[in-house]
Amino acid sequence: MNTDTTLAEPEAAAAQAQPRLSARFDARGCPVSTRSQAAIDSAERAQWILVSYYGDAMAPLDDAIAADPQWALAHLMKANALLTVNEHGFTGLAQASFEQAKALAGGANERERAHIGATGLCLAGQWAEACDAWERILVDHPQDLVALGTAHLFDFFRGDARNLQRRVTRVLPEWSASAPLYSYVLGMHAFGLEENNHYALAQETGQAALAIERRDPWAVHAVTHVHEMQGQYERGADWLQSRSGDWAPDNGFAYHNWWHLALFRLERLDTAGALALLDERVTPGAEVALQRIDITALLWRLRLLGVDAGARWEAIADGWAAQPTEAGHYCFNDVHAALAQIGAGRLQAAEELLAAVQRRSLDRSTPGMMAREVGVPLLCGLLAHANERHAEAVEILWPARETCHRFGGSHAQRDLIDQTLLDATIRSGQRRLAKHLLNERRLMKAHSPLTEHWAQRIG
Ligand SMILES: [Fe+2]
Repeated sequence: MNTDTTLAEPEAAAAQAQPRLSARFDARGCPVSTRSQAAIDSAERAQWILVSYYGDAMAPLDDAIAADPQWALAHLMKANALLTVNEHGFTGLAQASFEQAKALAGGANERERAHIGATGLCLAGQWAEACDAWERILVDHPQDLVALGTAHLFDFFRGDARNLQRRVTRVLPEWSASAPLYSYVLGMHAFGLEENNHYALAQETGQAALAIERRDPWAVHAVTHVHEMQGQYERGADWLQSRSGDWAPDNGFAYHNWWHLALFRLERLDTAGALALLDERVTPGAEVALQRIDITALLWRLRLLGVDAGARWEAIADGWAAQPTEAGHYCFNDVHAALAQIGAGRLQAAEELLAAVQRRSLDRSTPGMMAREVGVPLLCGLLAHANERHAEAVEILWPARETCHRFGGSHAQRDLIDQTLLDATIRSGQRRLAKHLLNERRLMKAHSPLTEHWAQRIG
């Protein structure tokens, strides 16, 4: 690799001159076309925020753009950061940043032009193809954290557990342990390993990440999932609580780790504890769909346990309804929005979400495929359940859960569908089927109070 960084610090005018050769490298040795070290430094700060969730990456990205407005990759990083929020409301801003990057392609290097292609595919709704394009960048630049970090999140949104792990596995041996932000790549690997049921290795890798950077919320989260999936609800709660001074303060991802602590509370049937966490830790400041998802999912699980959450349902239903243009954008969000409407007793609003997902299912994008293959059947099943047509709900949800990983999320998040199906089997009097289903849960959560609760309901 050419590591020639001896070029003189540019004047502002020179930084905008054409042609813009690959004059410098980022902190991990990936070539960049800017000659402004200030732009590189600001982009690096943004990269740290994007993997650590400490702060808002938009400010340093704007600083990078201000330092060198002609640097295409800074605009692209901004587009990618907006796209990974995965809400329609941010798509227009992402498109604008992308257009700026595209207009600057003539001054970009080969790696940056490949990034323009990948982000363009993502904006066009071709998420799988975008991930392939990022992968091709990683073949030549395995330490390209722009490509790896963005693809990792879209692997998650696409429910591609295989690449959630293996995309990181393929580049990790090429990383230097001394490379900046290396520990965050270990955190990504840990989560991918967990989603592929490699629990011991996931735990070891997450701990290795935290030995380097104890405040990494994604690595904490990966180990939390390891405990969740193995039914270790006391150990998992201890894990999160004992380290909350590390992962919680000032962190934009903290609400999700608090959500996991609430799940551990539910596993031991501490519904009051789960509600307290919901009110004090998960709900405050809810602005993005990812947070509304957690609030809704927790309320739904409480509802399945017969807990009356009162006005919380109206609040979250209003939160979803305040974003009407989001309907049909990403059906993982739509399903949670519909659950919120059902919980608030607004079945017509849930029907309207189904109609939006049906419209989306007609297009050939990745979200269109998700809407077609997962969103429509799942929403039909959930609406049948809401309308107390429980036998019909079972008929629809039983096959739907087999393919629902295609709409993204984690195993822990999608467990909500299994629990809803379990509820429908019991309510429809299909006791043997319910027992059949509960046996799955017994593998890892044989003795949890929540499993015993379901067993008692089956009778
Ligand atoms: Fe999670």
